[in-house]
Amino acid sequence: MTRVDEILARAGELPPFPAVIQRVMALMADPLVGADKIIEVVKYDQAITARVIKMCNSTVLMGTSPVSTLRDALVRIGNKQLLQIIMSAGGTELLQRELEGYGLGRGDLWKHSMLCALLAESLCDVVKYGAPDKAFTAGLLHDVGKLAMAGSVADSYEDIREAATAGRISFFEAETRVLGVGHAEIGGRLGELWNFDAEMVAAIRHHHEPAGAPGESKLPFLIHLSDILCLTSGIGVGSDGLQYTIDHDLCKSHGIGIREFELAMIRLMEVEAQFHAIVAMFDREG
Ligand SMILES: [Fe+2]
Ligand SMILES: [Fe+2]
Repeated sequence: MTRVDEILARAGELPPFPAVIQRVMALMADPLVGADKIIEVVKYDQAITARVIKMCNSTVLMGTSPVSTLRDALVRIGNKQLLQIIMSAGGTELLQRELEGYGLGRGDLWKHSMLCALLAESLCDVVKYGAPDKAFTAGLLHDVGKLAMAGSVADSYEDIREAATAGRISFFEAETRVLGVGHAEIGGRLGELWNFDAEMVAAIRHHHEPAGAPGESKLPFLIHLSDILCLTSGIGVGSDGLQYTIDHDLCKSHGIGIREFELAMIRLMEVEAQFHAIVAMFDREG
């Protein structure tokens, strides 16, 4: 059994990736997908339906009268926001856990992932990537491999820490060096197991080194950029924030100069405000 297999076997103890979210992700591949199709998929999932309606009725969304069905919620918030709420509601289950090896308390990974999702979506125009829904989902799931890796990282934490400090390398590089595989690769493998499409898998697998991603998609770079900017916010940052640097050559080849970088920082501040509103909604929900 290889190290990757061992870690993936441990991942068997994770809650399964929500089937309804897998189906919504498949629908999102079609940018013109109708609301009816989304509702058809989601309405059988009680927990997500309830959460969408509750969030829609929250004061943050300034509803004038409460909604009680998915269809009413859709009229109130629109297709795009409905998709975001569905993805966030489905991802919450999975991403809430405490990940000791990464220095992440309960909810921290979810917060970091949520912020990265909002930022990736917001930076689509800057990076010239045309599928904001997909960017949101990739941002939400980019660190999913940490769920499977956390136990192994915790077991070898001192060695990883030492390798990072001695070699002046990122925590991610040290984790890969000590364990033989990193959370990005494990996330890519999980994405394949969960039938994500090739572009989504590449974005997860290469979010720390987008230059290695196959194909022409800008999604891996967009997630890399968003992830690094999110780490500067200090929200949900654990050990991963150490010595993590941006790929400057790739920035250049994607047309990201100082002006674009400044714009991206402004967007980060904007999405932080949005992020706090969403966290408040989930908190109120209890
Ligand atoms: Fe990561
Ligand atoms: Fe991350």
